[in-house]
Amino acid sequence: MATNRKSYFHYKEGELFSEEVALGQVAEEVGTPLYLYSYNSLIEGYREVSHAFRKLSPLICYSLKANGNLTLCRILATEGAGADIVSGGELYKALQAGFPPQKIVFAGPGKNEEEIEYALRENIFIFNVESEGELKLIENLSQRLNHPARISLRINPDVDAKTHRYITTGKKENKFGLDFDEAEKLYSQIKKSPLLEPVGIHFHLGSQITSLQPYLGALEKILDFLEPLKEKGLNLKYINMGGGFGISYEEGKLPLNIKDLAEKIYSLIKKTGAKLILEPGRFLVGPAGVLITQVLYKKNRGKKRFIIVDAGMNDLIRPSLYGAYHQIKKLKEPHEAYPPEVVDIVGPVCESGDFFARERKLPPITEGEYLTIMDTGAYCFSMSFTYNARPRPAEVLVKKNHWWIIRERETYEDLVEEESVPEELFFSFKDPSLSFKSRSLREKKALLAPIPFTKMQGSGNDFIVIDNRSHLIKNRPEFARRVCPRKTGIGADGVLLLEKSRVADFKMRIFNPDGSEPGMCGNGARCIARFAHLKKMVGEKCSFETLSGKIFSQVKKDGVCIRMKDPSPPHLNLEINLGDGSYTGHFLDTGVPHFVLFVPQVEKIDLPEMGSRIRYHRKFQPGGTNVDFAEIKDETVRMRTYERGVEAETLSCGTGAVATAIAANLVYTLSSPVKIKTLGGDLKVYFHKSGPHKFTEVFLEGEAEVVYEGKWEGEVS
Ligand code: LLP
Repeated sequence: MATNRKSYFHYKEGELFSEEVALGQVAEEVGTPLYLYSYNSLIEGYREVSHAFRKLSPLICYSLKANGNLTLCRILATEGAGADIVSGGELYKALQAGFPPQKIVFAGPGKNEEEIEYALRENIFIFNVESEGELKLIENLSQRLNHPARISLRINPDVDAKTHRYITTGKKENKFGLDFDEAEKLYSQIKKSPLLEPVGIHFHLGSQITSLQPYLGALEKILDFLEPLKEKGLNLKYINMGGGFGISYEEGKLPLNIKDLAEKIYSLIKKTGAKLILEPGRFLVGPAGVLITQVLYKKNRGKKRFIIVDAGMNDLIRPSLYGAYHQIKKLKEPHEAYPPEVVDIVGPVCESGDFFARERKLPPITEGEYLTIMDTGAYCFSMSFTYNARPRPAEVLVKKNHWWIIRERETYEDLVEEESVPEELFFSFKDPSLSFKSRSLREKKALLAPIPFTKMQGSGNDFIVIDNRSHLIKNRPEFARRVCPRKTGIGADGVLLLEKSRVADFKMRIFNPDGSEPGMCGNGARCIARFAHLKKMVGEKCSFETLSGKIFSQVKKDGVCIRMKDPSPPHLNLEINLGDGSYTGHFLDTGVPHFVLFVPQVEKIDLPEMGSRIRYHRKFQPGGTNVDFAEIKDETVRMRTYERGVEAETLSCGTGAVATAIAANLVYTLSSPVKIKTLGGDLKVYFHKSGPHKFTEVFLEGEAEVVYEGKWEGEVS
């Protein structure tokens, strides 16, 4: 018999608790409406699925669309779950939350080019392909990127899941998947393609399914289809049964009996030799969440009794959209002595469809009290929106007697954050105050407020680091020219701007004091990784975009390690003539160009003079080069760098250290990790030599620390 999973919401001494936290206390502190999730309920949901199906040891890919909150996702990723995604945005969130790409499966009938390319670059596990056109596009893009793609075809088995018609997906009149004939044809195309690998088969019948029959019926059809494919030499390794496991929303109604389902499919799956993939969403997170709302008013119209609460259909749309039933409970335990009343629980939104319960028998409710709408962990926050300009609610996680805000309530400012009013439209008014008003809030802030910056240093290279995700700084080169000078500005070797990225955790833009923008700087990259970690934008590991490609970094206690771009094949023993004689060095590009010269006594070099002459030598034109002088003593490299753009000696240079380490390996056989001493501090360069002149997995490790925080009050253009 299927039983309801243990609820993590219960009354204690007259009050509703989740785990050991009184919900009323959280509501008072955080305000309402508010979503609240129980950590242990979520974990238990995951473990229940994994235990029920343990004999098949499936890959359980949590369906992010149910609830993409990063903390909830991270909890499941930590338990070992993979992710089922349906968009580039969900891929981004899944990676942010820490799901490994090799456990991410990508479904959806309308994947676009950008999303497919993103998923290919991240090397996700499987594309669940839903049409011939999509397959062609994946093939074209994988050829263009020279990147293989693992494919499952999503079958529409034409089976009725016996659930709400809006969430039925496996009937032939639904837009999802391919029929068996189409799939047969496409599998033979995939087999012929050099970059596509046919690895599995997928189906997903719908959501909130509470009987076994649809699954068994569909599986039977799928297995019949697989038999002849096998004979044709197509042995698919994965069977993905999708999600859809129903939960109990109403007292007395049972959830899907997943134990029974697991038992019944065991022998069927086992005999195919395939591995099972599941994509549950609701079952894991639905019962783990509630929406807490406060009663604003009571009003009667004829026989009708309305309870108007502060949550609206924009916060929770399931009742309005599907007529879905959610239990509603008072935070104060009801007294049995008072008879129930029949009421409509409605929200403040200007729509008559804005309701949570209609004609519901509930204990008496008073103005100002709190109610909870139960089982709202799945498809509630993730389907919320800001209609009527209502900021979305906060989200809170409870674990035992602790609780944390895991998403702040949106603010009015958030509502206008992405908007801007084109200035030109209002020029004719010639009224400066109006023109100021017409600027977006973000622009106004930028004009008025001082800009917070963090002064950082990495091996003696110092930077002004700024969170520029909201484009506080628009004219970046001008800003760098203004703030870098040490006498009239803040003083630094460069400005690092942290900006938004669509393909990584963030983007790093770096500007030299002369306003030029190099592709990359190793010391800068370490500083910005430390900065993003300190400001809690990322965890210890992150990836970020630079003009020279994507960088991976790891923040450690006493340093930051970054993966550098694989260097270009070096041009060894390049001779240049400077008029007073010829000099031999080694030229390579480690993100930016470097010319490395080994000398007997590095401290004796007249670096400003020599550096600038080499930097402008015609052999390196038009771009010029950075110049590194290095001396090897006791297996350690001492080096000094003349930096292009700074046009002077800097205390150290990360890309220079990498270039010098590679040259030291090739010329003096120093092995990884190469220890480097710069005027600014010590660095280590790790690499893997994968060919006589080919270096991969290049890592640079060194310190990166905050010197001070400040505010720039000067002008910004
Ligand atoms: N896999 C695929 C391909 C899906 O489309 C879905 C859900 C799932 C897995 C996860 O299904 P679950 O285990 O959560 O039932 N907004 C609706 C539900 C839409 C479900 C969409 N697809 C609701 O509030 O009931």
